[in-house]
Amino acid sequence: MSYVLALDQGTTSSRAILFDQAGNIAAVAQKEFQQFYPQAGWVEHDPMEILTSQMTCAVEVLGKVGARPRDVAAIGITNQRETVIVWERETGHPIHPAIVWQDRRTAGFCSELEQSGAGDNISNRSGLVIDPYFSATKIRWILDNVPGARARAERGELAFGTVDSWLVWHLTSGHRHVTDVTNASRTLLFNVVEGRWDPELLRIFGIPESMLPDVAWSSERVGEVTTTLGLGGISIAGIAGDQQAALFGQLCWNPGDAKNTYGTGCFLLQNIGTNFMRSKYKLITTIAASAQHRLEYAFEGSVFIGGAVVQWLRDNLRIIGSSAEVGALAAGEKDAGGLIFVPAFVGLGAPHWDPHASGLLIGLRRDTRPGHIARAALESIAFQVADVLEAMDSETPQPLAALRVDGGAAVNDLLMQFQADVLGVPVVRPQVTETTALGAAYLAGLAVGFWHSPEDLRSSRKADTRFEPKMDRAEATRLRARWHQAVERSKNWAE
Ligand code: G3P
Repeated sequence: MSYVLALDQGTTSSRAILFDQAGNIAAVAQKEFQQFYPQAGWVEHDPMEILTSQMTCAVEVLGKVGARPRDVAAIGITNQRETVIVWERETGHPIHPAIVWQDRRTAGFCSELEQSGAGDNISNRSGLVIDPYFSATKIRWILDNVPGARARAERGELAFGTVDSWLVWHLTSGHRHVTDVTNASRTLLFNVVEGRWDPELLRIFGIPESMLPDVAWSSERVGEVTTTLGLGGISIAGIAGDQQAALFGQLCWNPGDAKNTYGTGCFLLQNIGTNFMRSKYKLITTIAASAQHRLEYAFEGSVFIGGAVVQWLRDNLRIIGSSAEVGALAAGEKDAGGLIFVPAFVGLGAPHWDPHASGLLIGLRRDTRPGHIARAALESIAFQVADVLEAMDSETPQPLAALRVDGGAAVNDLLMQFQADVLGVPVVRPQVTETTALGAAYLAGLAVGFWHSPEDLRSSRKADTRFEPKMDRAEATRLRARWHQAVERSKNWAE
């Protein structure tokens, strides 16, 4: 067996990556898919398009190296988290489009729940805060708004799953309805202390238990692909939410280890070990992926719009033709020309948690050029990450000595340098920035003995690139103060 296949089902694209024994990428296939915005604040995907784009990539990537299913030791699945799909057990058909993690349609219900004083009880069980971001209120919305759905769910006819469950269900022709502990920990329905679905949370959110998948460990054989789509017989042996997979792929296995992934959003996670703790600074506590069958935790700061701000420049403002052009456009200006861009398109996540915040571009002048906007957009990513890191540093006795980074936008040197500058700590980028997929591959490969121990993986890592802070500290402090003023203005604005 020569490869492990990672299926990385993200928010804007499906990808399949083959890794060889040395942890190197042998081939990649990627397909963007459509985003639907049916109303202000709503974001949906077509579950069938998620499935077909993912399957197409998987078959294509094997074709690229002439591999057959018997050459693949295992599949590891990693996915956009929280996104909700509800389907019929009988047919496997979804009863509603997927409601994406960014969707804010349940903000009103969340505010009511918050005001009822349920927050502490919910956080102590789930590790999360009440926010439309997580799955529970989205499932509830489907049950309340699709005619007949609630009665059907109560009769056991409907299944809920995050994207990992949806893929496994179809890859195994409905034989397995399963998720893993990391994805379960994003639903608001899972008791992360006890490691099981929580009857009290199910009651609060009004979700019938019969809809829920079994919960597996992240590194465990859960089934075999039974379809005839060119992957038949391969074991599915790893599942993890994409941010937890990236934490694992960055080898952040010890308490204190942290990474930030620059994807559609930005997600800073810090391993906190095997004891559940709640954050004092509005971070959430999530289950980390582990190769050992035990609960491990991480603090997480989730920023909703990271790399997606670059897509917005491309698709909405149309000042670049492709995402890769943003670096050159931004580098054409020496600074952002006084502009601050708060990309609160879908509210603000950590550490602000304001679903009613709105996007804001402030400091426009007669001489403002597209390059300034591009630069302000990139800087907004770094400012948001700096806010989360500051909250994380307040939680722990030891501030982070360096930030490990990965994800699509981490290849942008200008952004990484600015990130080091505003943080005042070095930013460390591994050679393989596809650490999300790599983490999923590791989890699956370890479960089937393709790799024998986590230490094998550590020794095969190549040298990293380091970005040292260069900016004068007083200038960094001034810029961050301006940013914070702008963030305050963006709050509580959306209707
Ligand atoms: O929590 C949402 C996150 O999992 C989405 O990740 O990589 O699709 O931005 P990404």
